[in-house]
Amino acid sequence: MATVRTSIHGYWSSRFAFVLAASGSAIGLGNIWKFPYMAGENGGGAFVLLYLVCVALFGVPVMMAEILLGRRGRSSPMNTMRVLAAEEKCSSSWNLLGLMGVLAGFLILSYYSVIAGWALDYVVEIGSGSFVNVTRDEAGEVFTNLISSPRRLLFWHTLFMVLTMVVVARGVSKGLEIAVRLLMPALLFLVLVMIAYAMVKGDFYAGLKFLFTPDFSKLSPGVVLKAMGQAFFSLSLGMGAIMMYGSYLPRDASIATTSFQVAIVDTVVAVLAGLAIFPIVFANGLEAGQGPGLIFNTLPLAFGQMMGGVFFGAIFFVLLVFAAWTSAISLIEPAVAWLIEKFSISRLWSSLICGGIAWVIGLGTVFSFNNWKRIELFNDTFLAGKSFFDLLEYTTSNIMLPLGGVLICIFAAWFMREPSRRDELQIVNEGAYHVWRFLARYITPLGVILIFLHAIGILEKLHIT
Ligand code: TRP
Repeated sequence: MATVRTSIHGYWSSRFAFVLAASGSAIGLGNIWKFPYMAGENGGGAFVLLYLVCVALFGVPVMMAEILLGRRGRSSPMNTMRVLAAEEKCSSSWNLLGLMGVLAGFLILSYYSVIAGWALDYVVEIGSGSFVNVTRDEAGEVFTNLISSPRRLLFWHTLFMVLTMVVVARGVSKGLEIAVRLLMPALLFLVLVMIAYAMVKGDFYAGLKFLFTPDFSKLSPGVVLKAMGQAFFSLSLGMGAIMMYGSYLPRDASIATTSFQVAIVDTVVAVLAGLAIFPIVFANGLEAGQGPGLIFNTLPLAFGQMMGGVFFGAIFFVLLVFAAWTSAISLIEPAVAWLIEKFSISRLWSSLICGGIAWVIGLGTVFSFNNWKRIELFNDTFLAGKSFFDLLEYTTSNIMLPLGGVLICIFAAWFMREPSRRDELQIVNEGAYHVWRFLARYITPLGVILIFLHAIGILEKLHIT
């Protein structure tokens, strides 16, 4: 049952190139910016533990399923789902899954670009010495000034979107490899430098305790949902990004090994980022639960005091921008590839159109931090007090990605016929295959659905918990 489908967009040069690209997609703002602030907001250790469980139980099986479908379909997620549904004699509505992914990609990229813009601004801010020996409050002021200025945010958002589109327009594999092979290890190195600094100057013990002693009284159904959402977000799962990258994967590469490698690298980077940040938070009496500004209010304090901090600080944010860049391109690639397939337009046009759409949606996030802090429209609902950015962030990570991930798992583990699945996964280890199939068939779908029901309070009403 070997498939003869080919990708019109090209292939990775090797399995290693795919691991690099997938890691480049996975490692990004999600690890360095979002993971610490989510852990900080949701009580530390208990959140971290749940996050790790979600990566193992949901993340790895979904990643395998995504690569499996992508490689078999060899096109953008929408077309992949259409082709595979036909091949497996399933309803053609499965391509709605691809559509939801494309939508999620636009929504996530729209705010991702604004936050990456903060990092761009900080390259200049730190590089020009603004943080040398600043106090906590002065550093906070620099951040407040940035987010209160729509013009500055807009400038950086635009620049980042243009950068992203330049790479996408040239085809994702060009340039990506160098970025990931050289710059990601450099980022990791700087995170390690920060950890060393945190050990000496920060309150390292308090940081460790916060991240690794679970306080289960801090848990609530909402926290479980957020830990799950963060696992999907950080691993780039649930919207077809990894499916798209999987469609460029040579046939002889092992899907299981690859998935494990990506999941492990991604998780290590997130945990290390936490270790670098929380000791500084506690040593300076900062608020762990302050939200999205966390790293921007924390790291500059450290860079402001350390020797060579102007240099290291600027480099750190440059590398963070690179990490965000290699993630951003994977958010939009499914949409870009689909437009090319559907309308036979050039990659350049497709990139311009997609980038333009994401840029416009991003304006909502630009104004979320200043002119439109709260959306008045929802004042009387449970959404009261949430900004446009909060809403986007919440619905994409906590609803759209897990839902997409579950549907991907269900298709791969239930609807696809056994021979197709086996053919594509090229099982060498029967036991491992059965573990994957069991997780993908039962644990991931049921787990995610229970967490959903729990979060909206249905289980409590039925007195199940
Ligand atoms: N995983 C990336 C990060 O951690 C963000 C990202 C890239 C993403 N592609 C994705 C998230 C697809 C969800 C789906 O920063």
